[in-house]
Amino acid sequence: MNREQILKEMGLGPIWKLRQPPKKQKGTATEAAISAPVDARTAAIAAMGWDELKQAVADCTACELCQKRKQAVLGIGDVAADWLFVGEGPGAEEDERGEPFVGQSGKLLDAMLAAIDLKRGNDVYIANSVKCRPPDNRAPEPAETAACWPFLARQIELIQPKLIITLGKPAAQTLLQQEVTISRARGQLHDFAGIPLIVTYHPAYLLRNLPDKAKAWEDLCFMRKTMQDLG
Ligand code: URA
Ligand code: SF4
Repeated sequence: MNREQILKEMGLGPIWKLRQPPKKQKGTATEAAISAPVDARTAAIAAMGWDELKQAVADCTACELCQKRKQAVLGIGDVAADWLFVGEGPGAEEDERGEPFVGQSGKLLDAMLAAIDLKRGNDVYIANSVKCRPPDNRAPEPAETAACWPFLARQIELIQPKLIITLGKPAAQTLLQQEVTISRARGQLHDFAGIPLIVTYHPAYLLRNLPDKAKAWEDLCFMRKTMQDLG
């Protein structure tokens, strides 16, 4: 896909253009001062490497989402990525294939990434707030995102991204630990344990609310500018 096709895909037409090529630089990874483990399970997860993490998620029964999943979906991408995108939870196709954002939302997410010269797996890691599919495409409950949090916390610690992007409300609330309205929280730089964090809409929401795609584009430009400033 070339940029014009990508912007068309996003419903943005030809007026939006990136003015400069992205600057590629890798500095030292930000130290993620994730809070001390509080129980045995959290402590165990906090000490895991990638293989153990994958197995632990596959075997996890810590919340009721384990009951209807076909498989847990840990995440995908570059484990040394500067960019970490955090979605909500697997949908039907993700549950089937074991990879995040491979359905309709994923198509739009890939287009959004391409619009700022990013590519799945290339300096980008994609994860979700919950690793198992909520039935009937409902949003995960706070108790479920809380039960799943140690896994995401460990992923962040292992990856040490320079910038975290949350897609939609559950991810924003999980990481910011407060009630979040996307329209209010977007456009500002937040912080997760010393790592800059940007809140934006979930691609599935954008597919239903086309006018907000222009705002999503603003958010993409803000992300890109933020990463450039981080060097
Ligand atoms: N929506 C999400 O939030 N995550 C996925 O992996 C797929 C759709
Ligand atoms: Fe475990 Fe997370 Fe799946 Fe719940 S959603 S069963 S906490 S892996």
